[in-house]
Amino acid sequence: MDAGDKMQLPPSSQSFWLDSTAKTDYPALDEDIQVDAAIIGGGLVGITTAWLLKKEGLKVAVLEADRICQGTTGHSTAKITSQHNLIYEQIYTKFGRELAGQYADANETAVKVMAELIKEHNIDCDFQWKPAYVYTLQDKYVEKIEREAETAALLGIKADYLEKLELPFSVKAAVRFADQAQFHPRKYVLALAQLIPGAGCQIYEETAVTGLEEGRRHTIQTSIGKKIRAERVINASHFPIHDGLGFFFGRMYADRSYILGVITPDKLPEGMYVSAESPGRSLRTQKYKGGEMLLVAGEDHKTAQGVTEDTHYRNLRDFAGANFTISAIPYRWSAQDYTTADNVPYIGQVRSGAENLYLATGFRKWGISTSTVSALLLRDLIVKGKSPWQDIYSPQRKITPAAVGQLVLQNLDVAKELIAGKLKSPATESIKEGEGKVFAIEGHKLGAHRAETGQLHLVDVTCTHLGCELKWNSAEKTWDCPCHGSRFSYEGDVVDGPALKPLQHLPEGSNVIDPDII
Ligand code: FES
Repeated sequence: MDAGDKMQLPPSSQSFWLDSTAKTDYPALDEDIQVDAAIIGGGLVGITTAWLLKKEGLKVAVLEADRICQGTTGHSTAKITSQHNLIYEQIYTKFGRELAGQYADANETAVKVMAELIKEHNIDCDFQWKPAYVYTLQDKYVEKIEREAETAALLGIKADYLEKLELPFSVKAAVRFADQAQFHPRKYVLALAQLIPGAGCQIYEETAVTGLEEGRRHTIQTSIGKKIRAERVINASHFPIHDGLGFFFGRMYADRSYILGVITPDKLPEGMYVSAESPGRSLRTQKYKGGEMLLVAGEDHKTAQGVTEDTHYRNLRDFAGANFTISAIPYRWSAQDYTTADNVPYIGQVRSGAENLYLATGFRKWGISTSTVSALLLRDLIVKGKSPWQDIYSPQRKITPAAVGQLVLQNLDVAKELIAGKLKSPATESIKEGEGKVFAIEGHKLGAHRAETGQLHLVDVTCTHLGCELKWNSAEKTWDCPCHGSRFSYEGDVVDGPALKPLQHLPEGSNVIDPDII
């Protein structure tokens, strides 16, 4: 293998977590059922919440549109940490000591609870205790990092300020959190999932939720025509499927990030690292084929607003190559996350008066510990009527003036995308294999993608959520929405919400027409 081959990116996106675990085969719902709690979404939040509620004696159904743990959890960097980049000083300033303390306590507890669950059930999931670091290469972040270390320590976290790290590049400053961990997220979730069926509980795969009617008992409609009546419903689907008039699509924005699995003969870093500044850079190791693989992540940008082609993956590869000898890059994959206006997730009752209707969303890039925080918090709300962390995470909390400013900026972005999509003049040249472009045909915007087979796939590129114009994502071969982050396959199927409906196809048989001919 010559040096160029070693730097070669994999031809397609494939998460290591998915590639190294077996597929699941839970049944689809085949009859109308009645349960104490229905959980929409079979990721880490859904499965952990289901397990905790089952232990409390509730009959629980988990409804997953596809297969469990294939979405966000199956594409994360899988760090179990209360360190969420630089957050503690920010929330201490915005919310005060008590609420910042709730955030710290919730996440420190989540790390411990996950370690205990792994021990209790003997889950083989590559769990390793590791310190977590946020570092900076820039002078302007040094003071922020110093304050982060002080604030986190004040809130009870074992946090230290450092000026040197054991990395192949020098840093200006870093904050270290002790007693954090990393693991293989799918091995963990699949093992927990096995504990759920039985005693009136079940996981249903390939059972997409298409509607929810609120009532004393809520009624959930599914894609296969069967209904679930449930006393409580928990939206654990990354982006809430049932908005419940919480207008969450206007209170969050979506962004994407990228991960490479890199093999190197060099000494690997001992902890988990993330940069404070942009472009984001993150490093951790993972057990791989009797040795270890380095996971290099970062390059985050708002969904559908990044640079084109595979630039993000190439930037990560160049960063890895500048600091480590690369022997091979067996994996590349990407992730999508949602961020709230004030950077604190929404976990709890959807809105005031929405009896027994809960959600957990807006985890930013810190979904592993936050998923467990969500499961513990929702379990406590359901079983005890209250949680020690309910105030900081309340979906009904008032947002601060600074957060309002951020929301306005985000919504200006959305308005800009809605208008820009309608005004731009379309390209009309032909499309090469692997490319995607937008064309205007008799006033309709169509997205065209030519597959490697030469077949042309045409879809209506008006987002089925609120009508923004979709953009082609050449790295993932998807149509992405710049407004609230919905994503669709090139055949039009929903990959990520809030959209629920697929894109319109051109009629059967006409999806192989060349746009030049049209
Ligand atoms: Fe809201 Fe597309 S996700 S308009």
